[in-house]
Amino acid sequence: MELLPFLFMSSCFLTLSGLTFGDESGTSVIVKEGDDAILPCSLGTNENIEFMRFEWTKEGTEKKVFICDTGMVDSPALPGRVSHFPDDLQHGNASIKINNVQLKDGGIYTCNFPTRGKTFRIELVVGKSVIKVTVKEDDDAILPCSLGTNVNIKSKVFDWKKEGIVKVFLYKPNSTAPSDNQFKDRVSHFPGELEHGNASIKISKIRVEDRGIYTCIFPDSETKFYVELAVGVAQPFVIIPDRTNDWALLQCDVKNAYPKPTVEWWDSNNKISHSEEPQVSEVGGRFYITVKTNVTKDDRYRCVAKQEYIGHQAHTEISVELKKSDSAPQGLPVWAIALIVGLIVAVIACGIIIVKACFGKKG
Ligand SMILES: *[C@@H]1O[C@H](CO)[C@@H](O)[C@H](O)[C@H]1NC(C)=O
Ligand SMILES: *[C@@H]1O[C@H](CO)[C@@H](O)[C@H](O)[C@H]1NC(C)=O
Ligand SMILES: *[C@@H]1O[C@H](CO)[C@@H](O)[C@H](O)[C@H]1NC(C)=O
Ligand SMILES: *[C@@H]1O[C@H](CO)[C@@H](O)[C@H](O)[C@H]1NC(C)=O
Repeated sequence: MELLPFLFMSSCFLTLSGLTFGDESGTSVIVKEGDDAILPCSLGTNENIEFMRFEWTKEGTEKKVFICDTGMVDSPALPGRVSHFPDDLQHGNASIKINNVQLKDGGIYTCNFPTRGKTFRIELVVGKSVIKVTVKEDDDAILPCSLGTNVNIKSKVFDWKKEGIVKVFLYKPNSTAPSDNQFKDRVSHFPGELEHGNASIKISKIRVEDRGIYTCIFPDSETKFYVELAVGVAQPFVIIPDRTNDWALLQCDVKNAYPKPTVEWWDSNNKISHSEEPQVSEVGGRFYITVKTNVTKDDRYRCVAKQEYIGHQAHTEISVELKKSDSAPQGLPVWAIALIVGLIVAVIACGIIIVKACFGKKG
């Protein structure tokens, strides 16, 4: 299911432009050097491909990365380092895993089904470190890049690009080149920081379409830094749409989030509270998620939204007091007030009777 938009976008991009990478659901796979990388690929039709040939190729490399043909597999370009997921073939899943990824493994990979004439492109980005920056829409983002504080880069060129093609910012001594339209007038650097090796830039008024992978390149030394910008960090909002003395319905809403978050209700013992099936909708590449849970115990409940891919987590707490809140009164309960009023009336009445009786005797 998740791959459908990606497949759709990939095929769009393939027909429209040979250069663009899709920006959904993993067309760019980013891993750190030494980690394993899963490159996703699927026909998207859920059909069994156990007996269909598919090939993985890396652009600029002659030997195939992976060939799978009716059960026979081979990985001439990266012997012993590539595996597939045999159990997933029957669901049309032609993804591969590359073990112990090296910097030189980075590049564009294609997954090809020759009998169908279908090809998908996936970019593998391998960074010594990929820095993740997460911001909310409309905020400013600082994309960090530094050669180290003891290197003066005032006279060095550095070039910021998005997804390897969109010009974001080019620093040349005594001049800066204008950005592409998307970033026009929104990008600045920190001139005072250059002598401390700091090539960071600031992008103001971040838009959702700014999300993606940025590279900061020093062409002289061929040094590259990767920054992934995620826009649309998930923020849970909590309400109680319905309650009685015995139960409370808690509702958690996460809006405008990307990448897709997981949303869960937790109690104060860090146990997942039994929830209704999340309602998920996607509008313009942003996710809207609602999760409800019906609780019957007093506790502090927490709605937790996680975007594991960007290492972001946020939560909102709500305190539930059921019968207690209804029977622990601000003032006195009605029966107590009635009793007290009754007593006062009785005392006054008795007083009057006694006084009358006394005066009566006197008079
Ligand atoms: C294909 O299989 C891999 C490994 O199990 C998994 O990570 C990926 O999500 C699967 N893709 C689809 C579309 O099922
Ligand atoms: C940049 O400007 C400074 C002073 O404004 C000058 O000394 C330097 O030579 C210039 N550098 C280049 C590469 O033009
Ligand atoms: C670079 O400068 C920016 C802006 O002043 C700052 O936020 C960032 O921490 C600096 N980075 C380093 C590595 O000094
Ligand atoms: C919540 O649960 C109680 C009993 O466990 C049930 O009576 C009540 O109808 C539920 N409320 C909602 C809104 O589902």
